[in-house]
Order: sequence, then structure tokens, then C-alpha cells
Amino acid sequence: MGRVSLSNRRGLLNQGAFLAVHAHATETAPVLRGVTVLRRVTCSDIPSPTELNINVVPPVPDPSKTTRERFAIHSTDAECRSCHDYIDPFGFSFERFDGMGKIRETDNGHPVDSAVTVAMGADVDGAYADSNALAQALSTSPMVRSCFARQVFRASAGRSGKGAAESEESFLRAWEAAPEAEQGKIVEALVTYVKSSLFSHRRPQ
Ligand code: HEC
Repeated sequence: MGRVSLSNRRGLLNQGAFLAVHAHATETAPVLRGVTVLRRVTCSDIPSPTELNINVVPPVPDPSKTTRERFAIHSTDAECRSCHDYIDPFGFSFERFDGMGKIRETDNGHPVDSAVTVAMGADVDGAYADSNALAQALSTSPMVRSCFARQVFRASAGRSGKGAAESEESFLRAWEAAPEAEQGKIVEALVTYVKSSLFSHRRPQ
């Protein structure tokens, strides 16, 4: 056995496990990949269309177009753009990987286009050639770092959502008080949680 270099796959997001789970049976799901990154990695609150009573119609199959071309159609509509302008660039950056997470150069016979511009008013804004370049930017982003700490809190405390919002914010303030060099460390987030009264105290039921 030899060592295998995965230089084409940076970080967790470019592994088959993430890519294949967030895909459809027969094609990629750029929207689902994008929404997952936004919600889980950047902690952006993107409401679901069902919450707003928006009827989502999947793009019609068309063998003459790439998946990206078909999915890009919905971002020409102003109502759809209010969310999809944020979601789709994250999702389209993964188009170099098919629905199973395999690297591909073409989709439906056309060259794949994974170049995106992120413009969400955050520190990761910019143009990226593909999801590897985007993952690199996410890995050094203070926004992502703070989202990571938030997710550590949610997983450790077993709480999230409106009921836990106050505890979550007080945890985050304590974490932000740590020296910046420590903030990138997983252990720092856990130590902050363990030191907090949220961990050591329980209100009697
Ligand atoms: C409020 C934000 C928002 C708006 C507005 C919105 N969407 Fe979405 N859309 C989402 C989210 C989030 C998802 C992911 C599925 C979910 O969470 O329900 C999604 C999923 C989809 C999907 C399914 C993708 C897939 O692969 O399963 C399509 C197609 C879609 N939207 C098209 C549209 C169109 C067309 C419009 C305009 C009529 C629109 N959306 C408006 C947020 C939005």
C-alpha cells in the first residue's frame, strides 16, 4: 500500500461522504450542497421555501444542458434570488464532483463550470475557481471559526434553536474573549464550554 495524495480534495467538504450525501439519485444537488455549507459551516440562517409558502419547482430535465445551467435559471427571478444568490455560488463550486463525489471534467457532454463569486457581505467574499479554493478561504475565515465554536456548543450542550439562543450567545462571548490564536483550536471551544456555568450548573426541574 502506498500513500495516496488527495490534493484535488481539500478538507471535509470535498470528500465523497459530503458530496454524495448532498446529491440527488442521478445528478448533483448544487442547492442542497450550498444550503448545507451556508447553514452548517457559516451559520447563516437561510429560511426554507416551505416556511415562506414558496412552491419550489425542480428544473426540468434537459440533456442538452449542464446541471448548473438548469439550476441557474431560478436565480434570474427576483424572488428566488433573495436566497439563491447566496446559496448557489457555494453549491456550484462543487460541480467538478458528480453526484457520487467523483471528479469529472464534463457534465452532459459539456465542460463543467465550477467558478463562482461569493458575495454575502462576509470575510469569504470573493471569486473562486472551484470548491477547493473556496474551502481554503473557509479554513481561514473568522466567521467560519466562530460558527465552528457555535456548533461545538450546540453539539456539546445538545441544545440549539430559539430556546438555547441566550446560552449560545453567552458561550460565544466567553469564547471570543479567548486570545485570537486560541480561537482556531477545537479544544479551546470545548474548554470554554466546560468552564461555563451552562456546563457546571443545572436548574432543578
Ligand atoms: C427563503 C429563501 C428561498 C427562496 C426565496 C427560494 N428558495 Fe429555493 N431553496 C431554498 C432552500 C433553503 C432550499 C433547500 C431545501 C430546503 O431547505 O427546503 C431550496 C431549494 C430549492 C430547489 C430544490 C433544489 C434541489 O436540488 O432539491 C429549487 C429547484 C429551488 N429552491 C428553486 C427556487 C425557485 C425557483 C425560487 C423562486 C420561485 C426559490 N427557490 C426561492 C431557499 C429559497
